[in-house]
Amino acid sequence: MSEAIPWQPQQTLARGRFVLVNRLGRGGMGEVWLASDERLREPVALKFLPPEIRGDPGALDDLRRETARCHKLSHPNIVRIHDLHEDADGTAFIVMEYVDGPTLAALRLKQRSRVLSWDYLRPLVGQLCAALEYAHGEKVIHRDLKPANLMVDSRGRLKLADFGIAAVVSDSMSRVSVHHLTSGTLPYMSPQQVRGQRPQAADDIYALGATLYELLTGSLPFYSGDITHQVLHEAPEPVDERLAVLEIENSVPLEVSAMVMACLAKEPGQRPQSAGAVAGRVGVLESRASPYEALEKSVFSNTEATSVAAPPSKPGPLAAPVSRGTDRFPRVEKAPRKPGLGHEIPSRDEAWWSVVVSTTLGYLFFLTLFVGWITWPKEDVVRYWESNWTKLQLETAGQLWLWKVVLSLWLLFILLVTARRFWRRWK
Ligand SMILES: Nc1ncnc2c1ncn2[C@@H]1O[C@H](COP(=O)(O)OP(=O)(O)OP(=O)(O)O)[C@@H](O)[C@H]1O
Ligand SMILES: [Mg+2]
Repeated sequence: MSEAIPWQPQQTLARGRFVLVNRLGRGGMGEVWLASDERLREPVALKFLPPEIRGDPGALDDLRRETARCHKLSHPNIVRIHDLHEDADGTAFIVMEYVDGPTLAALRLKQRSRVLSWDYLRPLVGQLCAALEYAHGEKVIHRDLKPANLMVDSRGRLKLADFGIAAVVSDSMSRVSVHHLTSGTLPYMSPQQVRGQRPQAADDIYALGATLYELLTGSLPFYSGDITHQVLHEAPEPVDERLAVLEIENSVPLEVSAMVMACLAKEPGQRPQSAGAVAGRVGVLESRASPYEALEKSVFSNTEATSVAAPPSKPGPLAAPVSRGTDRFPRVEKAPRKPGLGHEIPSRDEAWWSVVVSTTLGYLFFLTLFVGWITWPKEDVVRYWESNWTKLQLETAGQLWLWKVVLSLWLLFILLVTARRFWRRWK
């Protein structure tokens, strides 16, 4: 098994299923290529595995398991892992969703100041937190969160790549190579991850802090000298101090720098306790995707695929990404939401409940009008408008009972619905 296989555009793999288009980049494990999936007729990204992994049955087994776990993650801000493909000739690659946009690492380096503004990052952080919150809820930890694994597609959506995979490969590499320390990329790793402790969501929260620190200041919290020692024992310089030291102008709101520093706390208990809490602290809370929306996404995902012939889009000017009217998720919030005021996208159950209630109310309303019309003698209507209400009631009492019952039911419904809404808001 040779180290560097000279992949070529137009080369076919997996008995013609994939046709290589062009090389997208090279990372710690190997090359990533844009390819056309001839069966599904959509572009995919192929990540070729290094020989250390291909030659290690244990590592391949770990990766198979992790790929299967990550395949189950379905979120608009997570790069979808399709498959781990192993050819008889020893070639092995991960097939994943192709993202037609740059990484945040590349975007940052394209800026003259080498930093990204909070205005630009704000909606992306909301989407990233939504992705992490979802994955952590599914008990999946990323373990290699960093700007190089964050991409922005041509629609301005953030995509978190390499969920679980990079860490497993890195772990396996560390078993067979002295050059690899452990899972993750050292400057983004929490003290617990550096010590090799059991992965936990708090590791991703730390990496989120280190990632934002780098994107906002142009430098990592710890970037020279004995990084391991500093990660374990030293407090990082506050964001505004680092900006001042490096003489970089970037306006970072106080609550954002405070949140970044809180994420970098040495003790997991002192970090924000979830990605949702991070988003809440800086007012970028995303609407939660309900299972109904995930289903909707997966059903229509094939029709959203872009043509493989289209070249990867160039990064545009750094205007803040905006949500599209037709795109129900992610929605980018312009202002912090007040907690508990019912702005959530309704879940499937709530949607059905709303349909049932509004249909019933509408039906009762028209029934009331209809029954009122046929049971209410015309001359009484005239008398009513002459403000002779008492007389009207006495004369038509026998005919109005049905109207009264329906009206009471209708009012009861309105009361119940209102009470339920208030209860849900203040619960
Ligand atoms: N799903 C994808 N769609 C489009 N391009 C991708 C995709 N995944 C990776 N790339 C491109 O390939 C490059 C290399 O990715 P890769 O994940 O191998 O490296 P990395 O993230 O820098 O390092 P690591 O191995 O630690 O993850 C990225 O910088 C990106 O430009
Ligand atoms: Mg990567």
